[in-house]
Amino acid sequence: MVYQTLFSTILVAMIALITTHAADCTREGLLAAAQTYLSAQTAGSPSTLKLSASNFTYQQNNKVSDISKGLLSTAYKFDLSRSTADTVACASYSMWISTSGSKPFVVGTQIRHAGNNTDEISMIDTIAATTGDLFFDAKKTLGYIKAEDWSNINSTASRPSRDVLKKAGDAYLDMWTDAKAADTIPWGTDCERVEGSALTRPCGGSLPHGGSSKPNGMRRYVIDEVVGSVDVFCQFDSLGAWPDTHEIRIIDGKVKYVHTITVMRGVGT
Ligand SMILES: *[C@@H]1O[C@H](CO)[C@@H](O)[C@H](O)[C@H]1NC(C)=O
Ligand SMILES: *[C@@H]1O[C@H](CO)[C@@H](O)[C@H](O)[C@H]1NC(C)=O
Ligand SMILES: *[C@@H]1O[C@H](CO)[C@@H](O)[C@H](O)[C@H]1NC(C)=O
Repeated sequence: MVYQTLFSTILVAMIALITTHAADCTREGLLAAAQTYLSAQTAGSPSTLKLSASNFTYQQNNKVSDISKGLLSTAYKFDLSRSTADTVACASYSMWISTSGSKPFVVGTQIRHAGNNTDEISMIDTIAATTGDLFFDAKKTLGYIKAEDWSNINSTASRPSRDVLKKAGDAYLDMWTDAKAADTIPWGTDCERVEGSALTRPCGGSLPHGGSSKPNGMRRYVIDEVVGSVDVFCQFDSLGAWPDTHEIRIIDGKVKYVHTITVMRGVGT
């Protein structure tokens, strides 16, 4: 009896150990962690976040900085927020718009988790645009984005593959240096592009075809096949060393939406 109890205790412990080692990064875990970030931001309180004690980096507008002095330490009321999840990279992307605070903001944030552990955050990487940045007008941006549908793509046949998404994100950022890149992107006929607050419809109109010799660098990806989106953070070297995020949504093989947030004031917010 005693041995039997001991045996089952050991068995349970072993199974727990195996499960822990093979831990997958889940969509639910990623979206829950992204939600803790959004809540911390609305409270202006980074201390509520579960940051990794051994491996945590805060980056704002492409510069490593002190989270306690960053955007998270001021409360902002959101007019809109949403998140996507990348279970392979174990990362999420959240965007939020605040039109009513001391300063208006349109912000994109990538969150990364080391070792597939979504209980702890290892990186918060934020691109934060405000008055003075490229085509900045938070109210106008809000108006366009609010009307868009970013729900999960219900039919798996309509979801783009990870490879298609990555290629579209890269081709988009390559348009300034590669004259042929624009023609490799599957533009949808009814798609829209919101760059800052500048709207272009259909989104495949008036595109760059090379011209710069400097590729856009420092690329960081969050790829979500369920939503059909790729978000790429970069430094927009083709035009200037601007912190930037480009997000593209593809449904049924065609680009549906493009969003960009580009910081031109330099760094520091
Ligand atoms: C994390 O999850 C991915 C996707 O399920 C898996 O391929 C990978 O091996 C996992 N990595 C670790 C460190 O557990
Ligand atoms: C630290 O976290 C980063 C993600 O922010 C990850 O790429 C890296 O592998 C982690 N390092 C260790 C030692 O876990
Ligand atoms: C998925 O289904 C829901 C509920 O029917 C619908 O509201 C939504 O627009 C659909 N999403 C897409 C991307 O088609």
